[in-house]
Amino acid sequence: MKLILGAAASVAALAALTGCDLQEDADTERGEQLFTEKCGGCHVLTGAGTNGDIGPDLDLAFQDARASGMDQDTIEGVVQTQIANPRPADPADTTVYMPANLVEGEDAEAVAAYVASVAGLPGIEAPEFIAPEFFAANCGGCHTLGAAGTTGDIGPNLDDVLPGQSPAQIAESIADPSAQISSGFPDGVMPAYADTLTPKQLQQLVQYLQQSVGG
Ligand code: HEC
Ligand code: HEC
Repeated sequence: MKLILGAAASVAALAALTGCDLQEDADTERGEQLFTEKCGGCHVLTGAGTNGDIGPDLDLAFQDARASGMDQDTIEGVVQTQIANPRPADPADTTVYMPANLVEGEDAEAVAAYVASVAGLPGIEAPEFIAPEFFAANCGGCHTLGAAGTTGDIGPNLDDVLPGQSPAQIAESIADPSAQISSGFPDGVMPAYADTLTPKQLQQLVQYLQQSVGG
């Protein structure tokens, strides 16, 4: 809560430190993809469909900033500065949690341009969640699933282990992989998706997995 309350004040403080930095040619599509991968686990941003709650809600933060007259180029500069040199959400707080330089150079420009193009804008909608595409992009590198054509072998072969499991069991394995470790596999390798997926998205993903293994 403290992080969210501090958000508006901190965006204004950052803006004062940031020169205008136009990146007209930055690749916002790549920016969206990088944001989802590197930032979305900690931040809500509706346009990217991310739901992380470790850091401030970026829609709320920049909604206030836009309302007080901050334009898109300034927001872009604020985001770029925050990526390179993260500052606490509450200026009175000296602890900074956000890791610096998660993206650099052109990638940082692309992420900043993307965030500035959607954060806090009215009418922005989350991208449609398509379970098979999400699985192929995020899970298939570690898991084999025949229906998806993936052959990852870092985690269990889902065609083998999922039949007979309840939706609740599968959902827990995805949201909180450490709750129960598949025998013969290491803990701490699979990311927890509790903050990246909404309950509805998790349900869609579980349903897709059950259908894929014939359940
Ligand atoms: C590990 C979690 C984490 C990740 C990953 C992360 N952030 Fe943050 N972010 C935070 C936290 C926490 C804050 C509040 C400042 C602090 O305490 O570090 C913050 C603050 C911000 C702010 C300032 C918002 C405000 O209201 O002041 C922006 C902008 C931001 N992050 C953008 C990004 C972008 C872009 C990325 C990806 C390149 C990213 N963050 C990745 C946790 C994270
Ligand atoms: C970096 C590799 C990695 C990624 C990415 C990953 N997993 Fe896993 N997964 C594992 C490992 C390792 C285990 C076994 C250890 C454990 O249970 O936590 C596992 C376990 C599971 C299980 C439990 C299987 C059983 O034995 O019952 C399910 C279900 C699962 N993963 C689904 C997913 C889904 C869906 C995604 C994408 C949203 C995903 N995983 C992403 C590595 C990964």
